[in-house]
Amino acid sequence: MIIIKLGGSVITNKEKPHSPRKNSIDKIVRVLKKLDEPFVIVHGGGSFGHYWSVKYNMHTKPANYNSHGVSVVKNSMIELNKIVLDSFLKNKLNPYCLPPTDFVFGNKPITKKVKEIEKMAESNLIPITFGDALWFGKNKSYILSGDRIMSMLANILKPKLCVFVLNVDGLYSDPKTKKLISELKGEKPLILKSSKDVTGGMKRKVEEAMKISKKGMNVFFVNGNKPERIIDAVKRKKFHGTLFKGK
Ligand SMILES: Nc1ncnc2c1ncn2[C@@H]1O[C@H](COP(=O)(O)OP(=O)(O)O)[C@@H](O)[C@H]1O
Ligand SMILES: [Mg+2]
Repeated sequence: MIIIKLGGSVITNKEKPHSPRKNSIDKIVRVLKKLDEPFVIVHGGGSFGHYWSVKYNMHTKPANYNSHGVSVVKNSMIELNKIVLDSFLKNKLNPYCLPPTDFVFGNKPITKKVKEIEKMAESNLIPITFGDALWFGKNKSYILSGDRIMSMLANILKPKLCVFVLNVDGLYSDPKTKKLISELKGEKPLILKSSKDVTGGMKRKVEEAMKISKKGMNVFFVNGNKPERIIDAVKRKKFHGTLFKGK
């Protein structure tokens, strides 16, 4: 089984509120059709969730955030999720909407529920979950990022590969020179911060990827604007992107 995260940066235009990139989504989905093994999809918030969580000053730390903000962030994610689901359906695949409230309690995964996700994927459904505004308990809520969901699911499901689909070729040693790191082996890349992101952007993504690879699974960052690269990586033909080798 593999777990694939479609980054908000590739499925939306992060510069413009509520702007899905429907063509990019369709192109990726058409390529995913060629996978001949079970997979699970996680998607990010891009100019939907991130836009509103910045507006309402909501973060990944559980706190007493503005209730209307929680509603609006959540609603925007449902809207983006529907666009993703529709693309899968249109391409004659079997997406199954799986909001993270289905397998997370507080900020912890519910192991029994997570294990069932694999069963769904094996039954020819494609579970599709997403970063979201979640209820934490004790009057608190928080933003659960798609990147964090990746490490939660990987920990329990032990997929053979985790793929992070981005709007760049992978991790660059320096975003200015765009020198691609094809395998991260301890070097410290220069990572730029983004003001449009409440979940830590590339820095946090690399941290989650390293957590997963330390548990023995391969993680791969790939450009979603070149979706064939996803298939090449899964079929082990070639990796054009950044590999975090499982140790
Ligand atoms: N060293 C780096 N290598 C690649 N991308 C970087 C780097 N530093 C910052 N970035 C930025 O990180 C972005 C990807 O992170 P993010 O926007 O959070 O993606 P996603 O929406 O897929 O979670 C890229 O679009 C790029 O602008
Ligand atoms: Mg991000």
